[in-house]
Amino acid sequence: MSKSTKDRKNICVSSEEITRQQQFIEEIKEINYQREVQTGKKKLYYLATFGCQMNEHDSEKLAGMLSEMGYAETDNMNDSDLIIYNTCCVRENAELKVYGHLGPLKHLKKENPDLLIAVCGCMMQQPEVVEHIKKTYRHVDLIFGTHNLYKFPELVYSAIGSPTTIIDVWDCEGQIAEDVAIERKDGVKAWVTVMYGCNNFCSYCIVPYVRGRERSRKMDNIIEEIKTLGQQGFKEITLLGQNVNSYGKDIGDGTSFAGLIREVDKVPGIERIRFMTSHPKDLSDELIHAMRDCQKVCEHLHLPFQAGSTRILREMNRKYTKEDYLGLVSRIKENIPDITLSTDIIVGFPGETEEDFLETLDIVEKVRFDNAYTFLYSKRTGTPAAKMEEQIPDEVKKDRFQRLLATQNRISKELNDTFLGKVVEVLVEGVSKTNDKVFTGRTRGNKIVNFEGDGSLIGQLVNVRIDNVKTWSLEGSIIK
Ligand code: 5AD
Ligand code: SF4
Repeated sequence: MSKSTKDRKNICVSSEEITRQQQFIEEIKEINYQREVQTGKKKLYYLATFGCQMNEHDSEKLAGMLSEMGYAETDNMNDSDLIIYNTCCVRENAELKVYGHLGPLKHLKKENPDLLIAVCGCMMQQPEVVEHIKKTYRHVDLIFGTHNLYKFPELVYSAIGSPTTIIDVWDCEGQIAEDVAIERKDGVKAWVTVMYGCNNFCSYCIVPYVRGRERSRKMDNIIEEIKTLGQQGFKEITLLGQNVNSYGKDIGDGTSFAGLIREVDKVPGIERIRFMTSHPKDLSDELIHAMRDCQKVCEHLHLPFQAGSTRILREMNRKYTKEDYLGLVSRIKENIPDITLSTDIIVGFPGETEEDFLETLDIVEKVRFDNAYTFLYSKRTGTPAAKMEEQIPDEVKKDRFQRLLATQNRISKELNDTFLGKVVEVLVEGVSKTNDKVFTGRTRGNKIVNFEGDGSLIGQLVNVRIDNVKTWSLEGSIIK
């Protein structure tokens, strides 16, 4: 066990360190202010995020700190003074995309030598990636990882005017930084991290190597944050962690995820509670009962099963069998009859035979998920599965992937069809990107619903009658 999880007394970054970072924020703010006075133009940042909600939420922290430093956001990178890529490495595609973006930045840097280019996040936790960026993309000014995000102000300060690339990547997880500014994109829904890291080491997955061991935030800090969000008018909270079901295990005083959601359920102003991601091996009956009992906890669960064959599950180090998973789903459905389920599935894990794949299809048919995130297995250097023999040829993977997608699309549409003519409660999230008369929101079961309305509805719960059904969304009209 790492020092930071053993020694709970020191689990949080000290207030002195946070104050030190605040001083860097003030210094940079002053530099930016002087520039603004000279040029009449505020300094701008462009931030691109790849990967999961955890990364999206980390970007909200970067945005919060940037805003404190006196930067404003732009979506035009040609116009920006600071470009930052928050990266993901869970699959090879995500990494290739980042490299594809970094190359063309060279000419921007030539045109504007004061431009700062930063890359951070999961990819940077791999030494070979840092080496590659240092060699190939010399125009990058700043590289940092996932464990020292709170040091961003100090790192920006060091990078300003530095002739060399500033690199600060920690190979072991640091302490939890409370009190970092967060600039949330949305005013209705908010992510709240409850724990960091993962101890599971699924054999295909790089996350435990780049996000470190499990560290839970203190329950008091989480509840305080959610109370503030409730006062600020946020209506929906999604509790985030790589494996939220093991929340509290490292604290060792009986704190549990079920206990946490019972407390969150009491926070005034919050109407809906969601959480992700749940590992089937750790989803306790205690949690199922808490979901059933807590009025604000939505009837939706994201429960990745990854593969249907018990043999492949063993190779994946998932620690449950196909029967365990189906039994768990039955218990959930018995306790929460309206539950909608979503999942993650990997196709083409090393050694996966046609029979193994048919077991995956069998789970999809038996459980009837509302939604599935399906992935082609991607070899990640450093994980045990990367060394396994019998890697599956691309064309076999792709063929299975298409069959899986067709099955899931049919089921999603069939489940959505059952909503035709029904009235559902929708939390209105915002306006459609393509039509300013069309608004969008979600049901408690996480179904996307589009309907005509007006801006005053954002953040409200409205009743919508479903008139039309698509595979991935519902359409309807508001009823008074
Ligand atoms: N290849 C393909 N998919 C992966 N995932 C994690 N690692 C890999 C990999 N090497 C998927 C899992 C996980 C989701 C976030 O990403 O399904 O649940
Ligand atoms: Fe990766 Fe498994 Fe941890 Fe999820 S539970 S982050 S798949 S190691």
